[in-house]
Parts: sequence; structure tokens; C-alpha cells
Amino acid sequence: MDVESLSEQLGGRMVLWLEETDSTMLDAARLAMAGCPSGTVVGAERQTAGQGRHGRTWHSEPAAGLYFSVVLRMTLPPEQLPVVTMAAGLATAEAITHTTSLAIDLRWPNDGMVGDRKLFGILVQQQDTALVCGIGINVNHTVFPSELSRIATSVRAETGRETPREPILRQTLLALDQHCDLLRAEGPAPLLRLFSRASSYASGRRVVVELSDGDVHGVTEGLDENGFLLLRQDDGTRRTILAGGVRPA
Ligand code: BTN
Repeated sequence: MDVESLSEQLGGRMVLWLEETDSTMLDAARLAMAGCPSGTVVGAERQTAGQGRHGRTWHSEPAAGLYFSVVLRMTLPPEQLPVVTMAAGLATAEAITHTTSLAIDLRWPNDGMVGDRKLFGILVQQQDTALVCGIGINVNHTVFPSELSRIATSVRAETGRETPREPILRQTLLALDQHCDLLRAEGPAPLLRLFSRASSYASGRRVVVELSDGDVHGVTEGLDENGFLLLRQDDGTRRTILAGGVRPA
């Protein structure tokens, strides 16, 4: 990773790239606590304790993928935090499509999919007044551990080509800047429109949602004004999904 040239192309922002770390979420949280500027990026070739959502781990095959976290300083009402996840998902999907021509679907709230396999994931955590936005992209993975082999994919598996990681990283960071600027300037509405257009899950999709108290089944009916998913349950009632794993039914 040519960190110097990347930082230059991104207006001189701070980019740290580590050979190995436990999780870039923890590195970025430390940098945020120490007062680093918004947009600071920390990435790693390998993570020994990569974090996924819902307490899961993130498989981080050394040097095959992109594993990085960005510190974002933006004052948003807490109910708008899901929109940051969506902004990051949109940015990552656009960057991958721009650099590889792969068509990507977004599974609410934060998964980048090719068909029914996951290509990337986003994890946003609050660190005092900052947000840490973690992005994990499967780029040149050729094999996955058995528990992921049916549900994960990589850019290489989809295109049949080994793919340079730097252009995807650069485009993702540029697109993330643009989407965060849009969110600061105009609030969630334009991003929610973009997300709804980019996601086959946002509306009219029969899904199962895994909630902490059990699965619920229904058909998606769009997003509310803060990006939460509206679900018409099979008993006819409407439920707002605040968090949970969504999969096709
Ligand atoms: C998910 O889909 O469950 C979210 C995955 C987020 C993974 C990335 S990899 C870079 C950053 N560091 C981590 O430990 N996790 C995020």
C-alpha cells in the first residue's frame, strides 16, 4: 500500500497502514480519543481480532482484502446514526462498481452483496464525540473458511481477476467524503433516496429479520426518515426494524 501517495491524493489527510493489528476499530478509536482530525484513516494488512456487527468476528485474510477504519467528526442526532452506515455502504458499493464494474446490491443496513453472497461489511461505532466507520472488503480472497464459503464472495471470485486494492480504497474514501458532506448539508433524505435505489432489500422484498427475541417474517416497505427499515409483518401489522440481520425469505 503506497500510503504517501494515497494521502497526497486525498488532500494530505492522515493515513496509517499497519502490517498487523487486532482491529482497526480499536486503533481508530484511540486516534479519535487523541484528537485526530476527521477523515483520518487506519488500515491493516491483517487483523487478529477483526470485529463484525452483533459481536461477530470479521475474517481478515492477510493482504487479500481491505480492512480499514475512518474517524468521522460530525454532529448528528443519535437517531441519524444508521444513515452514516448507509452512507458508507453506498460509498463502498459505488467505489467497487467504479473500479471493477461489479454490480452491487445493498442489504439493509450495511452489507454489500453480489447476489446472495456478502462482499463487504460496514461497522459504525461511536467514540465520544467521534464516529469510527470500519469497512471490510473481500477483494482477492480465493477461499473462505467453511462457515463462510456459502455466504461470502470476493471481487476476485466475481470478476475472475486479481484486483489492485488501492484504487478501491481511494475511491471509497473519496465517495465517503462526498456522502458525509451531503449528510451534513442536507440531512438524511437524499442519502436514504440513494440507498433505496441501490438496495433490492429496501422495498417490496420478502425477508426474515433475525431479532434478539426471535425471527420475524414480512415484506419490506421502505425506510423511515432516519433510515430504519419498515416491515409489513405477515399478521398485517407494521414494524420498524431498528437493528437485526435481514435475509431473503
Ligand atoms: C459486518 O458486516 O459485520 C461489519 C464488518 C466490518 C469489518 C471491518 S474490517 C475493518 C474494521 N475493523 C474491524 O475490526 N472491523 C471493521
